[in-house]
Amino acid sequence: MLSRDDVFAELGIGPLWRLREDPSATPLAAPDSPLTTWDALTEAVAHCTACKLSATRTQGVLGVGDRHADWLVVGEAPGADEDAQGEPFVGQAGKLLDAMLAAIDLQRGSNVYLTNVLKSRPPGNRDPEPDEIAACRPYLLAQMTYHPAYLLRNLPDKARAWEDLCLARRTFNSLPPES
Ligand code: URA
Repeated sequence: MLSRDDVFAELGIGPLWRLREDPSATPLAAPDSPLTTWDALTEAVAHCTACKLSATRTQGVLGVGDRHADWLVVGEAPGADEDAQGEPFVGQAGKLLDAMLAAIDLQRGSNVYLTNVLKSRPPGNRDPEPDEIAACRPYLLAQMTYHPAYLLRNLPDKARAWEDLCLARRTFNSLPPES
């Protein structure tokens, strides 16, 4: 089974990033990626056949919420309810997540964006496999990162990315060690 850290390592990212969307130049994957707008990303996930999960899913589940949010919640993968409804965190886990968000004065759709590492449901809710995580990686990165090549051209966002990185470092340093 993959641990949380394994998943982050597969993705090549740290554990916490803040979501930003600059409407004039978003979202950003690699400079040569076609995933440069939310419409393109939505279309790509809807028709994605990059891994074997496309044969068994009902639909791709991209994400839901505020695209300008400071808070990004990344789950593992859509379950049965999410696969049927096309939205992340709609089952029992979603109710719990909503309650947890409410406890810190947040609600889905307002300053929070919800997505998953995998955009397609693994059959029987099994754990994501490394090839599936790799196939979905461009989608998650397009949803959440400024690409360094973009930052070279945009100094205000470079400063924001630096703030995000410092926040991620501080937050990570304050986490208790995993037992
Ligand atoms: N629902 C999701 O969308 N993702 C999870 O990780 C758990 C439940």
